[in-house]
Amino acid sequence: MRNAKMILDRAFQIAPVDKRIYGSFIEHLGRAVYTGIYQPGHPAADENGFRKDVIDLVKDLNVPIIRYPGGNFVSNFFWEDSVGPNRVPRLELAWRSLEPNTFGLDEFHKWTQKVGAETMMAVNLGTRGIADACNLLEYCNHPSGTKYSDLRISHGVKDPYNIKLWCLGNEMDGEWQLGKKTMEEYGRISHETAKAMKLIDPTIELVSCGSSFMDMPTFPQWEATTLEHNYDYVDYVSMHQYYGNLNNDSCDYLAKSDEMDAFIRTVISTCDFVKAKKRSKKTINLSFDEWNVWFHSKDQETDITQNHPWQVAPPLLEDHYNMEDALLVGLMLITLLRHADRVKIACLAQLVNVIAPIITEPDGTAWKQTIYYPFLHASTYGRGTVLQPLVDSPRHATLEHGDITDLESVAVYNEERGEVTIFAVNRNIEEDVALTADVRSFNGCQVVEHLLMTHEDLKAENSAAGQVVAPVQVPVSPVDGGTLTVKLPKASWNVIRLKCQ
Ligand code: AHR
Repeated sequence: MRNAKMILDRAFQIAPVDKRIYGSFIEHLGRAVYTGIYQPGHPAADENGFRKDVIDLVKDLNVPIIRYPGGNFVSNFFWEDSVGPNRVPRLELAWRSLEPNTFGLDEFHKWTQKVGAETMMAVNLGTRGIADACNLLEYCNHPSGTKYSDLRISHGVKDPYNIKLWCLGNEMDGEWQLGKKTMEEYGRISHETAKAMKLIDPTIELVSCGSSFMDMPTFPQWEATTLEHNYDYVDYVSMHQYYGNLNNDSCDYLAKSDEMDAFIRTVISTCDFVKAKKRSKKTINLSFDEWNVWFHSKDQETDITQNHPWQVAPPLLEDHYNMEDALLVGLMLITLLRHADRVKIACLAQLVNVIAPIITEPDGTAWKQTIYYPFLHASTYGRGTVLQPLVDSPRHATLEHGDITDLESVAVYNEERGEVTIFAVNRNIEEDVALTADVRSFNGCQVVEHLLMTHEDLKAENSAAGQVVAPVQVPVSPVDGGTLTVKLPKASWNVIRLKCQ
């Protein structure tokens, strides 16, 4: 057993958690919509065709915002096709599928109300531009008396949707993106679109596209150049990152949250560089609006998009997650929380079937993947003020990432509930760690529970047949003289909830 020490002090505060960091994402991709959230005729479907089993699982996750309708899909999205009485199928070019358009903007809004979330809407800056972004905003947010607001009303939606958060396109630097832009082109079009959109509704917030991922050759020059154009009109810059264990090296895989941390730090520095250059008082914050593990399904994706195109809702990006994927998702959540001062929005990509915590069987029930649990725990208990624990952790060697810490952790203090929750991953896959935490700054601390998720087989998965990997409550010694002692088993996700004054 190895030893780690922690000091947790109520005065070491990073920032309040913006609840929007527990956002997620539904794209018209694969089975996310059709046979995912929407399946008329399914025994669990309600009168709208929405699957109630999925609604229940999403509600439990307490997701405050959901990004829609893409993703790559948005870059050739003709939103008018997805509303009103006449829906016609279209070729969907991003994923080479057939989009029936039977579920669209109005249905999505109705569904978000059922799950208690708000929409984070993306506009098409790939194959369309300023005018269409304005028309869509007018449809969604203008009360009445204009072409598009009256069109919405004619579709039976009297009150405007008042969508507050808008993405100016998606991954506009990617070769795979329809209507890819150079940084100068995107800087100009995003500036002009943002200016026009804020004339229509000055209360909205806008997200400028950052690089598609950290290893893009133009990162971080893309962020610097595009923000120099649009700085005055946008509020956030987007970040996207997916990881995978392609080399089947679990130690290196679990080190990837350190890369995410470096990515966030670089984007913060770049935003602040532009701020300084512009002598601006305004700070641009981060919207990490796509993050997850994505690699298990890559061959399936290539086969379907290349060899079997134009299907309705083909099984694309259906990663089946295992224990170590859940650990990395937990580590990524810890990393996001540790940057709560600048990361104000984050979306687990995605929510149902497509690289998702929830899977539906078209002829059966919906079930929880391993990654469902760390997200559930963070979203449930990670509300309040983020505390920076001072940690002295043992380290272990990795092939690609050098020596890394065994223990990664963060804590959230919820003053209203009188609770402190420690989220901790022991990413040493061979040895347990005994954690001794000094919690004296919180008077009369008592342990409420220790939720533990671990499995001897890091490749163990859940399925429709059963929850092989799921959290359990384990016994923990009482806090003694302000000291908490807890065992963090090798390769484990831990949630330690304390009641404090
Ligand atoms: O989430 C899947 C895809 O990943 C999104 O459509 C795109 O934005 C990203 O490349």
